[in-house]
Amino acid sequence: MENRKIEHLAVIMDGNGRWAKKHHLPRLAGHRAGAESLDRTMHWCKEAGISYLTVYAFSTENWKRSKGEVAGLMKLLSHFIKAKEKELIKNGIAFRVIGRREDLSPKLQKEIAALEEKTKGGDFTLVVALSYGGRDEIVRAAAKFAEQGHGDNLEEAFASCLDTAGIPDPDLIVRTSGELRISNFLLWQAAYAEFYFTDVLWPDFDKAEFDKAIVSFSKRERRMGGRLK
Ligand code: IPE
Ligand code: IPE
Ligand code: MG
Repeated sequence: MENRKIEHLAVIMDGNGRWAKKHHLPRLAGHRAGAESLDRTMHWCKEAGISYLTVYAFSTENWKRSKGEVAGLMKLLSHFIKAKEKELIKNGIAFRVIGRREDLSPKLQKEIAALEEKTKGGDFTLVVALSYGGRDEIVRAAAKFAEQGHGDNLEEAFASCLDTAGIPDPDLIVRTSGELRISNFLLWQAAYAEFYFTDVLWPDFDKAEFDKAIVSFSKRERRMGGRLK
């Protein structure tokens, strides 16, 4: 059983809005609770020996939301970066952003770049997908690929043009809040990922639910197109 280890866990952190509604709070309070949930999950991942945690924090489609919600989310992110800096450095956690970072404010872009630089080389990596869309990432990679030239291994060369260059594909993708879709997340990288869906809303995602996801993964037979053993 134990050979099915997760090197890379990816999470679609969904349900913050519904959590807020359930508690008669503004949507932004749901996002704040979601940020705390991310903090906890990151530490469980580290303890479980996982090397990469990628979280979907803001999609290319999330710009459609109200100005107030978008601004609140951006502020929360900026706050997260400042509040977590010391802790990330102390715990050897590298921070990395994937997505259309040029869409973010110059100030936020600077804060991200500075944190990426300061946390480089950590043995655990937190990857935050921000203004991220799988299609957008693939289209940008295609342009880069066409410009660069490549060797014989086309898939490998193409993957190196993606924002996730150097990061292994996710082994398990978790989505909270009961939605059964991928919503433009890691389209290329998810080719052979396992999926775990739960009705739990992201701010309520606790250690028991985390363990359930890990146990579920450990029982899967990953054949990658090969035959049953
Ligand atoms: C996920 O929670 C966080 C983001 C998309 C930024 P939602 O805000 O989508 O929460 P629901 O789906 O409305 O409950
Ligand atoms: C996906 O959640 C994006 C993030 C979690 C950041 P959404 O709430 O935006 O996805 P849909 O609209 O339900 O597909
Ligand atoms: Mg949602």
